[in-house]
Amino acid sequence: MRISVIGCGYLGAVHAACMAALGHQVVGIDVDPDKVDALNAATPSIFEPGLGDALAAELEAGRLRFSTDYADAAEARVHFIAVGTPQRRGEGAADLTYVHAAVEALVPHLRPGAVVVGKSTVPVGTAQLLAERIHADQPDASLVWNPEFLREGVAVADTLHPDRIVYGVPAGDEGDRARAVLDEVYAEALASGTPQVVTDYATAELVKVAANAFLATKISFINAMSEVADAVGADVTHLADAIGHDPRIGRKFLNAGVGFGGGCLPKDIRAFRARAEELGIGDTLGFLREVDAINLRQRDRVVDAIAGALSVNDGDRYFGSDSSTGSLVGRRIAVLGLAFKPESDDIRDSPALDVAVRLKGLGADVVCADPKAIPNARAKHPQLAYASTAEALAGAEAVVLLTEWREYRDLDPAAVAAVASGRIVVDGRNVLDPDAWRAAGWTYRGLGRP
Ligand code: UGA
Repeated sequence: MRISVIGCGYLGAVHAACMAALGHQVVGIDVDPDKVDALNAATPSIFEPGLGDALAAELEAGRLRFSTDYADAAEARVHFIAVGTPQRRGEGAADLTYVHAAVEALVPHLRPGAVVVGKSTVPVGTAQLLAERIHADQPDASLVWNPEFLREGVAVADTLHPDRIVYGVPAGDEGDRARAVLDEVYAEALASGTPQVVTDYATAELVKVAANAFLATKISFINAMSEVADAVGADVTHLADAIGHDPRIGRKFLNAGVGFGGGCLPKDIRAFRARAEELGIGDTLGFLREVDAINLRQRDRVVDAIAGALSVNDGDRYFGSDSSTGSLVGRRIAVLGLAFKPESDDIRDSPALDVAVRLKGLGADVVCADPKAIPNARAKHPQLAYASTAEALAGAEAVVLLTEWREYRDLDPAAVAAVASGRIVVDGRNVLDPDAWRAAGWTYRGLGRP
C-alpha cells in the first residue's frame, strides 16, 4: 500500500518507519526542512529506542522517504494525519491549528478512493468537521479516525504490535470501503489476533482521551494514596502491590512519585475538560481538575521533601510546607533525570525538569543529569547547570532521583556516598531500595514511604 504520514514528530516519524517495516511504501511529510533532512539521513532529532535503526533499514530498502512537499503524498492511497495538538497557550483547550493546516494542504492532492486517517488526539467532534472538509473537495475520499496508543520509549514495538486497533468510520458503504482499505494496512496485526473495535467518529475520538484520562486518574489516585500514607506512616508501594493483585485494579500505572508529564496525559486531561465545558457538561469531568491538581502537588511535595531533609537533617520525617527560601540557598543538589519518563528525551511538561527549575528558583545550586534529555532541557532552561551523572553527584549535599532511568535505579549507595558531600537522597519515583540506602548511611525520603 502507498501511504503518506503527515507530521513527523514523536508519533509520525515512528509511524512512518513502522508502516514501511510492514512492507508499505511510505512518504513522511513535514513542514520542517531540518527535521526532514535528519529523517532522510536516519538521524532523527528525537531519541526513541529503535527508531534510528528502523529508519536506516527502511530508507535503505527504498520503502521510506521524507519530504516537505505535500505533492509527494499525492500517490498515496492512505494518508495518516499525525501532527501535534498542543495545549493552547493560557487555556486548557487543544490547539487544532496543525490538524486543520495539514488537512487543508493535503486535500488538493487527494485522489478518488483515498482514505485520510486521523491519528492526532483531538476534541470530540473534530473528525466530523474534517470529513466534511475533505468531502467538499474530494467527494470520493474518506476519513477514518484511528487513535494511537503508543507509549514513548517503546513506540516502535507498540506501533508494530498494538494492543488494540480502533477505527471510527462513517456510516454505510463509505465506512465499509474505508475500513477494508485500512484493514489492508494493518493486515499483519489483525491476522495475529489484535482486538479491533470499529465504531463511529465520536466514539473513536473519545476512546483516546478516555484512555489517557483513565491512566492519569489512576496515577493521581495512587499519588493521593501516597499523601495519605505519609500522614500515617504507611507504605504506598506495598499498598499498590496489594491492591494491584486484584485483576480488576491491576498493578500497572500505580507507581506513586513526582507524577505524570509528557506531551499527552497533562494536556489531554485539560483539553478533555475544556471540551466538556463547551458541550455544557463541564461538571461531569470536574474530577479531572482534581487529577491535575494532585499531579502538580506531587512536585511541591518533592521540593518540600528536599527542603525539609536539608534543613532537618536528623532523620526526622518532614513533609511540611516550610520550604523557605533560606533553607535551599546555595545548597548543592544533584538532580538525576530531566525527561518526563525513562528511555525518552522528551521534556514536555516534565515533572523532573519542573522540580529542577523550582529548586534553582529557590536558590539551590542545582546540577542536573540525564542520559538523553540534556540538549532539550538546556535549550528550554539555559539557566540550569548540566553535567554527567558523576559530576552531578560529586559534592552533592542531596541527591534527587526524578526520572527512573535504569542507571539511576542501579546506583550503588556506597559508591555515591564516596563522592557526595551529604547523605540525603530523595527518591521522586519510589524506585530505590530504602533499606540499602539507609544501611549505607543515607537519609532516604520517598513519597508515601516510611
Ligand atoms: C501516554 C499513554 O500511555 C499512551 O497510551 C498514549 O498513546 C500516549 O500517552 C499518547 O497520548 O500519545 P506516554 O505519554 O508516552 O503515553 O507515557 P506514559 O507511559 O503513559 O507515562 C506518562 C507519565 O506518567 C510519565 O511521566 C510517567 O513517569 C508517569 N507515570 C506512569 C507515573 O507517574 N506513574 C505510573 O505508574 C505510570
